[in-house]
Amino acid sequence: MEHTRDRLIRYIQDAQAAEVGIARTLEGFLDDGDNEMVRSLLRDHVAVTKNQANRLEQRLRTMGAETSAGKGFFNSLLGRVSEIMHGAHDDYDKVTQNLIKAYATEHLEIGMYTALIAYARACNDEETATLAEEILAEEEEAAERIFPLIEQCAQATYLAAVHDETRGMGYRA
Ligand SMILES: [Fe+2]
Repeated sequence: MEHTRDRLIRYIQDAQAAEVGIARTLEGFLDDGDNEMVRSLLRDHVAVTKNQANRLEQRLRTMGAETSAGKGFFNSLLGRVSEIMHGAHDDYDKVTQNLIKAYATEHLEIGMYTALIAYARACNDEETATLAEEILAEEEEAAERIFPLIEQCAQATYLAAVHDETRGMGYRA
């Protein structure tokens, strides 16, 4: 069986790799649509996510470990989520779907950090537990900011569709 400390290091490596992957995904979302409110939220969260990756990397180094070159469980899982929901109908759908993915990602992260906090604390590693708690709070805050935008984007899609309809540009049954 894997040594308890090696397992803890692997969990932190997984979280660090996930944050690096998430920052990349969120940066990709910045190219979609022209909703400034969504863009500014995503821009903020890219910065927070990169900062989280750095803090986790720093923690690994303090523990005498390195970041992992492998993808890790969470990164692979998040990659699948992106693949499944690929191929949006148009830019309106794309922005709404990106927000749903971002919201789902925050919740995967909340689950991931909840497990890390519990395991680190069981290992008596209070420093890792505290760092994971700080990051968990940031993920919860991000999820709360993303949530109302999902509704707003869906409503904006309806208004755009009505606008097109009245101009006779499609969306007709
Ligand atoms: Fe994060």
